[in-house]
Amino acid sequence: MTDTTGKESGTILVVDDEESIRTMLRLGIKLSGFQCFVADGPISALQTLDQNDVDVVVADIKMPDMSGIELARIIKSRYEADVIIMTGYVDDFNYEDIVQQGASDFIQKPVRIAEFIARLKRVLSERASKTARLKALSDLKLNLDKLQRAMEGIVHAMSVAVEMRDPYTAGHQQRVAHLTAMVAREMGLSEDDIFGLRMASEIHDLGKITVPAGILAKPGRLSELEYELIKSHVRSGYDILKQIEFPWPLAEIILQHHERMDGSGYPQGLKGSEILLQARILSVADVFETIASHRPYRPSLGLQRAIDELTDNKGILFDEDVVAVFLRLVEEKRFPEFDN
Ligand SMILES: [Fe+2]
Repeated sequence: MTDTTGKESGTILVVDDEESIRTMLRLGIKLSGFQCFVADGPISALQTLDQNDVDVVVADIKMPDMSGIELARIIKSRYEADVIIMTGYVDDFNYEDIVQQGASDFIQKPVRIAEFIARLKRVLSERASKTARLKALSDLKLNLDKLQRAMEGIVHAMSVAVEMRDPYTAGHQQRVAHLTAMVAREMGLSEDDIFGLRMASEIHDLGKITVPAGILAKPGRLSELEYELIKSHVRSGYDILKQIEFPWPLAEIILQHHERMDGSGYPQGLKGSEILLQARILSVADVFETIASHRPYRPSLGLQRAIDELTDNKGILFDEDVVAVFLRLVEEKRFPEFDN
């Protein structure tokens, strides 16, 4: 390991009951530029570890109170330090034990100081790259989380912007997003796909910003031209979003949310499985929410009307499996906000 000035850095703890070994190793370690503590046995070694940040412990395998292997096991369970075990020619041990207890390396006595320092440096450098890897991973995760939160925030802001222009349907997209996420989870979609579908649902009417506000708010029947303008919201939403490289097919889901299973929907007249599953879920949730929830200009048409609409049109306009899950959730009273 090297510090920012390019000098070797690292804190080593030598544990041996023989003073001559401690002295020799400490000298070699210090001459190599590392900081060094010594301990005459496992008990004082653990005390040193409690009070200092140690990178590597070099422990004799044979000590009076506790073996080096037992000490390695305790160190690996309580501290971050790596362990190198020193073994004697005549010591009774097996290498598997040493490795299993978490030691990073071992060295045979009598220790040749040059070889010892080389091994020590290798353990330190592996340790440094492991730390760097872990840090890079956690930075990456942090950045991903930040990015995801920013994306949620942006999508939410877009959703609020659409609904500010169209107060008659305030909260509609949020409620639809909640429904699609529940149904998708129930249908076993991955958490990632559910997240994407939730984002798409929150802004599924984004294209309505291109429809004149007067038409959106117009009570009563619409002329054919006005209806065509409203229908164009799916294509506009798609056009606004298609340039953004979302990790999910947000633009396509929105483009397809008025397609119907029998091909009678718009804008492309897609049929059955030509329509993305996410769009099939969104279309059911969209219709259900529109019928079952209150609007400022009218009370709810009623949960029963919404149930009838789905039941009558399952397999015709709406995906049968999606409707089945939807109706089961209604039956289980999982959408209490629509219980009226
Ligand atoms: Fe729509």
